[in-house]
Amino acid sequence: MNHRRIDVRHHILPRTTRRTFLATTTALACPAAFARVGRAAGTANDRVGVGFIGTGNQGMGLLKRFLAADLGDVVGVCDVNRGSLGYKEPDHFYGLEPAAALVAQMAGAKGRPTACGVFDDFRRVLDRTDVDAVVIAVPDHWHAIMTVMAADAGKDIYCEKPLSFAIAEGRRMIEAARRGGRVLQTGSHERSNPVSRFVCEAVRAGRIGRVERVVTKVGYNNKTGPGPGWRPMPVPPTFDYRRWLGPAPDRPYHADRCLYRFRFNYDYSGGQITNFGAHSNDMAHWGMGIDTGGPMEVECLEAKFLPAGSLFDTAVETRFRCRYESGVELICESGPESVQTRFEGTGGWMQTGYRGTTASDPALLDGLPPKGTGSDDPHTRHLANFIDCVRTRAEPAAPVEVGHASAALCHAANALIRLFPETGPGHVARWDAEHDRFIDDDAANRMLVPDRRDPWS
Ligand SMILES: NC(=O)c1ccc[n+]([C@@H]2O[C@H](COP(=O)([O-])OP(=O)(O)OC[C@H]3O[C@@H](n4cnc5c(N)ncnc54)[C@H](O)[C@@H]3O)[C@@H](O)[C@H]2O)c1
Repeated sequence: MNHRRIDVRHHILPRTTRRTFLATTTALACPAAFARVGRAAGTANDRVGVGFIGTGNQGMGLLKRFLAADLGDVVGVCDVNRGSLGYKEPDHFYGLEPAAALVAQMAGAKGRPTACGVFDDFRRVLDRTDVDAVVIAVPDHWHAIMTVMAADAGKDIYCEKPLSFAIAEGRRMIEAARRGGRVLQTGSHERSNPVSRFVCEAVRAGRIGRVERVVTKVGYNNKTGPGPGWRPMPVPPTFDYRRWLGPAPDRPYHADRCLYRFRFNYDYSGGQITNFGAHSNDMAHWGMGIDTGGPMEVECLEAKFLPAGSLFDTAVETRFRCRYESGVELICESGPESVQTRFEGTGGWMQTGYRGTTASDPALLDGLPPKGTGSDDPHTRHLANFIDCVRTRAEPAAPVEVGHASAALCHAANALIRLFPETGPGHVARWDAEHDRFIDDDAANRMLVPDRRDPWS
């Protein structure tokens, strides 16, 4: 059986930091004090100490939201880039020093502690006893290593989507989080968007009848990068390229390989299939009622790549199809929408994404809530949900198994997309979602295993 609802009886252990240890031991001596260790106590002791690892495009956005909503204390920031212009946009100035300055400014303005640790090695963040939880917003090829080490160090984890870089890593992340009783929130913030929740739950509840087809969109690769014959560049003195590469193959430096644009290179990510696909396909699974598991068949219908020798090697345009045991067909295709999920059922259709929410009949959207903006935006809600769960030990909105199932679907599709120049259309691969592998398809299975370098392999 491929599709299982997630078992919410997993054990999430109470936080065992220095502060909760002290609070708990005080509570043993003085039961009245125990009430202070809890969700709504509102004392300085209840504030969650968080380390932010990766302070680039997404990490800075999360840090800003965390500080603006005063969700806890930022006790550490970590990045291998001291600070530079040129992330998603040329004028974006991010990295370690801008992050530390942001904490000083925003926490200071709220009268909160501003003395946070500043690190270029994430292991030093994990060493700290005042770090209860970490927010991991580094390129995908680092997600699993940092998550497993953080879980083993007793930290709760907010790990950006896609949960994993390679399929086997997802299983290791599940094991580490569950073994350690850690809270793990996958950064699929649509799970905390009331609009997405409304649509997915309405579809699950049968509002459009029986779902027959789901069409998801992922944006085109919107950056083309240097073409064949590109030349390496000198590494800036403010950037630790060796640490950035970590487990990835040793390649000559080029600025377009790293900040933000890493997602267009298979050594570090999976292109838009794992970037936007981790949202749109995650919503597809959500509406289809699949919390774990995946399709039984995957087929690449179309894949276009840049010329051989280009720095970016991920597909610029793609289309793939999956079939599920329930009979549902999922089509995922490149488009201008970046993130969109459309559910087609026997009684109509509903779609939602970054460009809004529509339906075959407006009555299907009766009760649609507002999206939430500013301090109530889905990213802030998702972070707040994580911090709540750190305190209450409840399951977060996007648990590790859910993050794995969505990432696994994207990785399986990418394996066939990468083989497409050899196979052409018509290569239908059978997928064993229980074991995250193709059935009797060695070539496709080989594509699931990435190159890793010691000591991180
Ligand atoms: N949820 C969302 O909507 C959303 C949006 C954007 C990005 N993301 C995810 O966030 C992650 C980061 O993406 P981004 O756009 O911020 O990339 P980015 O390149 O802008 O930022 C990543 C940062 O991590 C740093 N870094 C790399 N290796 C490191 C290491 N070993 N230790 C510490 N820091 C390290 C880099 O120097 C960089 O500053 C990706 O997994 C991406 O998919 C999620």
